[in-house]
Amino acid sequence: MTADVRDERGNPPGLRELPGPSGPNRRQLGLGLGLLAMSGVATSVPAAAAVPAARTAATAATAKTADRDLFLPWVELHRSTLRKNVRALSQGAGGRSVCVVVKHHGYGMGAFNVAGATQDMPEVWGYMTTRPQEAMDMVRRGVRKPVLLHSPVDSTTAVAMVRAGVHLAVGAKDDAASLRRVRDAAGRPVRVHLDIDTGLNRQGMPDGLASAWASRLWASGAVEIRGTASYFATGPVDDWATKTDPFELEQISRFEGVVDSMRRAGVPVGHRHMVTSISYFQHPQAYFDMVRCGAVVYGGYPHDAWLKEDRFGLEPVYDLRCRIAQVTQVKAGQGIGYAQAFRPSEDVWIATLLAGYLDGYRVEPTPQANIQALVNGRLRRVVSLTGTHTVLVLGRDRDADVGDVVTLLGRADPAIRPERVLGAYASYYFSPELARVVVD
Ligand SMILES: Cc1ncc(COP(=O)(O)O)c(C=O)c1O
Repeated sequence: MTADVRDERGNPPGLRELPGPSGPNRRQLGLGLGLLAMSGVATSVPAAAAVPAARTAATAATAKTADRDLFLPWVELHRSTLRKNVRALSQGAGGRSVCVVVKHHGYGMGAFNVAGATQDMPEVWGYMTTRPQEAMDMVRRGVRKPVLLHSPVDSTTAVAMVRAGVHLAVGAKDDAASLRRVRDAAGRPVRVHLDIDTGLNRQGMPDGLASAWASRLWASGAVEIRGTASYFATGPVDDWATKTDPFELEQISRFEGVVDSMRRAGVPVGHRHMVTSISYFQHPQAYFDMVRCGAVVYGGYPHDAWLKEDRFGLEPVYDLRCRIAQVTQVKAGQGIGYAQAFRPSEDVWIATLLAGYLDGYRVEPTPQANIQALVNGRLRRVVSLTGTHTVLVLGRDRDADVGDVVTLLGRADPAIRPERVLGAYASYYFSPELARVVVD
């Protein structure tokens, strides 16, 4: 059986034959057929040439659906790399615990996938999210480490969270009376992290009012204080890898002031936590009892200088992948993509992928950007991108086929490392609809 994928340009190939078991991609085909099996479709895919002319519309539709499932992009989360990063971050912080931030769908990995892969690690204190549903999902699916919900919630949600054992970050809108009501309705004490706003002015109790407020909460008996937290206000500026922002130092000192005064008043502070990925590099003096990091856990160095230095040996924990959905030849001088933006100077083979910026692959494939993807061990240039499609130039030779795996972002080559292509927070934007596969 040979792979017949010589699609005519402008003439969609319809039912396509996948590379045969004797072809170069037997292993990949195995995975592909697995996906077909999962979608309830028969795993024997007929050759295009062998499809009878009288094939029914229903069968054709099923096969098309199967094709589409097979070609859709997916995220591979590498468990051992994730664990390695967590360990490195804890060691880098003098053995302190890591609160793994899994907000917004686990930075594209799936919050539960991340928690499930790391919760047995002694370095992990627990998990932080900003979405009640995500917190509840982790608990329901058996995450036993603490889950911290770090956003204001209404009282009904608060009760549900407390019943489930979720820790709540409390701040300006929470007083002793409201937390007592939550405790009474939930039938158990409210485990809280006191969220101290030291200058971001976004969420939490302003530091000037925090100590007295904490004393009142503590005296009410409604809460168990499990932590005290703050958040830096400054973001990236031109020279942020080398310069210290004086306001951040001021924030650290405000936070320390609140903690000192709580301690003097006999109020427990629990775990003190302040640094996130950027401040992890900038302010080791603010590690306190644990670091609360997202991007770096997933291997994203937030600054190019830190990536070059690679002090912690962090690696991307994921690959964004898909399979080639169509292979076509384009003649020299013909245009590819909207506005015919790319015109090859010689005849080339191109590959079309059913992945685009709506999946979270938000690249701009300009000549200057030189965005590349990995196919069969070789980097190929991305020349066109829309919401749902990406086109790569394979080259003069047709050395890849329909069904071959393409890595758009990932670990295998520095050219596709997520920070280089899209920045340290690349995976934040992955569509929640992408399939996630946890591998070791
Ligand atoms: C309160 C809080 N802490 C920690 C983090 C983690 O940030 P990063 O991904 O930069 O480590 C976030 C994410 O934005 C956050 O909102």
